[in-house]
Amino acid sequence: MKIQPANRRLGILLSGRGSNFEAIANQIASGKLRADIAVVISNVETAAGLERARTRGLETVYLPSKQRQREDFDREVVEILKKHDVSLVVLAGFMRILSRVFLEAFPFGILNIHPALLPSFPGTDAQQKTLDYGVKFSGCTVHFVDDTLDGGPIIAQAVVPVLDSDDAETLSLRILREEHRIYSEAIDLVLSGRCEIEGRRVRIRD
Ligand code: GAR
Repeated sequence: MKIQPANRRLGILLSGRGSNFEAIANQIASGKLRADIAVVISNVETAAGLERARTRGLETVYLPSKQRQREDFDREVVEILKKHDVSLVVLAGFMRILSRVFLEAFPFGILNIHPALLPSFPGTDAQQKTLDYGVKFSGCTVHFVDDTLDGGPIIAQAVVPVLDSDDAETLSLRILREEHRIYSEAIDLVLSGRCEIEGRRVRIRD
């Protein structure tokens, strides 16, 4: 199945620092990634990423998620995204599981980045789990979001070594540099209509 978003308008969802969002915004500003950030949404009022987006003059929305039914919250997010004519949703450190309401509104239209080589170490604290397990290489993964935790079809991955001297912070930083590089590349691939999904495999056409 060929994936072809209807336009190049991105909706960014974040819950924290927002360095991946900023890397994407920088790639767009420099002309390397042809896309528009239509809206930045956060469920955390104090998220640094939200402030970074405001500073850039982007449209931002804070939508509290605490004590709300997952479907109700997701329905409202979808409404905001549709209102802004978003065709590709980019999760950039958005720490929430998406309900069917959300997934069905954007079939193969939601991307996530995870700081490990999936399917290893899904969920939270991936870098600490990586160190605890003792693997010698780790990295990051950009994937389509489906109804499994960090489990959708993989678009791009990058590998970094795990050093004996690493703690979670140094490893996270090394991985983050790669995250900032591959997320924009993966977005560009999806927007270009070159991705084809066959089962779990995402093939990139020339
Ligand atoms: C990134 O390392 C991202 O891979 C991770 O959260 C961080 C957000 O950083 N996401 C997950 O762990 C999702 N399972 P940022 O706010 O600076 O982009």
